[in-house]
Amino acid sequence: MNTERIRKEFPILERRVDGKPLVYLDSAATSLKPKTVTGALAHYNEELGANVHRGVHSLAEASTKEFEGARKKVAGLVGAEQKEIVFTKNATEAINLVMNSLHRKGFFRRGDEILITKLEHHSNLVPWQFLRDTAGVKLKVAELNGDFTLDVADFHKKISKKTKLVAVAHASNTVGSISPVRELTEAAHDAGALCLVDAAQSVGHFPVEVKKTGIDFLAFSGHKMLGPTGIGALYAKQELLEGMPPFLFGGDMISSVGLEKTEWNEVPFKFEAGTPAIAEAIALGKAIDFLEEIGLENIRKHDKALTEQAIIGLRENSALKLFCPSNPEKQAAIVMFGLPPFDCHDVAIALDEMQNISVRSGMLCAEPLVKSLNSKGLCRASFYLYNTKEEVDIFVSALENLKKSRKRKN
Ligand code: ALA
Repeated sequence: MNTERIRKEFPILERRVDGKPLVYLDSAATSLKPKTVTGALAHYNEELGANVHRGVHSLAEASTKEFEGARKKVAGLVGAEQKEIVFTKNATEAINLVMNSLHRKGFFRRGDEILITKLEHHSNLVPWQFLRDTAGVKLKVAELNGDFTLDVADFHKKISKKTKLVAVAHASNTVGSISPVRELTEAAHDAGALCLVDAAQSVGHFPVEVKKTGIDFLAFSGHKMLGPTGIGALYAKQELLEGMPPFLFGGDMISSVGLEKTEWNEVPFKFEAGTPAIAEAIALGKAIDFLEEIGLENIRKHDKALTEQAIIGLRENSALKLFCPSNPEKQAAIVMFGLPPFDCHDVAIALDEMQNISVRSGMLCAEPLVKSLNSKGLCRASFYLYNTKEEVDIFVSALENLKKSRKRKN
């Protein structure tokens, strides 16, 4: 992988503050966007401009062709059929779509169970809490091992014939642990349940294949995989989509409308009411081209090398507390840490001011887990294909300097 060449495609990396280059370690919140992606947004707005699936004029047809071409690329990325990809705003909306639609269908009965894990982002927790509080469904939570990986034995213990849905993070956005989704999906199916995977931190970082894993629903966001904000996707098996009622109602999701009776469009359009994020979808297609040109296996190798380098470096710093799996194979490109007694936001501000390093701090959209580790929140560094070994060194030594400054104050 030629990181130097890759970096040239991300103009924001030229940003300097007091001569210090930007060290962007917050890709788990949102990734940077290459020129081909920002160029695609401009291309649609400046050269196409028309709506999709409606007009018969040539610009409308060109817009539709590019929009559906992007859907094909998304499907190809996760090994799905084009009909099985619903464009959403992001992974959160994709999960909400599944929750609302299954709820409306009457899929859940009082006393049914949903099994999630301690690793979940709020997006894969709060919708199910709503269901618990409105439909009388019981929400069970599988525990973690001491090294922050999923306790798979506990997961198996908590799944039962009462489980209707298993909803799990593929890669955690806090401790970074990767869960064995194939095994979890098989367990769900053996119990007669469906399996939803929140893949916001995995798609675009390593290969994810829905058919090989048997996953029923896969939710992911474009903006965490080099795409723009405002576009994401839900993969669902075609027969499931066909049996689910729509989530939003309006234009394009219908095949015929009368004052008395309205019929739904075929899938996936049944789930895409109103004018979609056309430019963003086309730009997401460009992001996928970019990722596939480099290769997901190569990206994983690069992510893994930087994460291991960071962990080795950070372990030298006796003041730091790291919260990550012990096995690098089970770790995404995410390192969560604390530097007691500093407040996590003070650490993030210091890194930014001292070295132009961007990390995230706080509850990281996963308050139950983060709060259980530190009541005031933690910091998180996350890596992607444009990060370099040199940046990891800058990050590690900036934290070392912070530790020293604390000693001097003492
Ligand atoms: N889900 C994003 C994060 O983990 C916003 O930071």
